[in-house]
Amino acid sequence: MSTEQKEDRSACAIIVAAGRGERLGQEQPKAFVPMGDRPLLAHTLAAFDEHPRIGSIILVVPAGYEDRCCQEVVQPSGSAKVAKVVAGGDTRQNSVHHGLQACECKPRNVVVIHDAARPLVAGDIITEVIDTTQALGCCITAIPVQDTVKKVKDGLVQGTPERDELWFSQTPQAFRLDLIRHAHEEAQRKERWVTDDAALAEWLGQPIPVVEGSSRNFKITTADDLLMATALWQASK
Ligand code: CTP
Ligand code: MG
Repeated sequence: MSTEQKEDRSACAIIVAAGRGERLGQEQPKAFVPMGDRPLLAHTLAAFDEHPRIGSIILVVPAGYEDRCCQEVVQPSGSAKVAKVVAGGDTRQNSVHHGLQACECKPRNVVVIHDAARPLVAGDIITEVIDTTQALGCCITAIPVQDTVKKVKDGLVQGTPERDELWFSQTPQAFRLDLIRHAHEEAQRKERWVTDDAALAEWLGQPIPVVEGSSRNFKITTADDLLMATALWQASK
């Protein structure tokens, strides 16, 4: 990493943590569920707080949980980078949209969008998505599919897509702020609902480079995922 890059803290991060975590099945939202010694969101925040290329962070939490987030996550972290804690929406897309509306970075700066539910994200992947986005306008992280994938309808196999071309999309996904903001505004206007941010950029015809992610950066969805992530985190301490 060059000295110039080390000093470049123009990238901002939006961490979306406003989901209910229904499949995890706990009373409280997933972001506040403990993973070892801290709430899940505190681990994800730490990955971005510690990253030398991230200058500011927006946390998007369930409506009504903003104060609790400040008390239980931001203050104990000691982070000086958290610019805002804002309420999310009823879908992930709407939560990202709220985060983008709150973002005060310059239009051509890089915004890194990340799921709070992926606390094991590695710093070198964050570096690579920022570098790629500064050069090419956007990128996603993804990993090659390991298993054979079937298309199934009504309990019957309809086909077997070529595995070589299939990748699992992850976050972080990064974009020039003006590009992804425009994509989200268009989507709101035209009522287009998707499950990741890149799908909106694709819809607008934007070529999207892929940075290879990591199987460790899996999304905590179920109780077993939380057990695995906790074990991996403890093993790496
Ligand atoms: N997310 C969000 N706002 C929503 C829904 C999801 O910010 N309305 C965030 C989640 O907090 C999570 C990420 O998007 O960090 C990926 O979503 P997912 O894993 O599906 O989390 P939940 O929606 O919380 O889980 P579930 O679908 O089981 O309720
Ligand atoms: Mg969900």
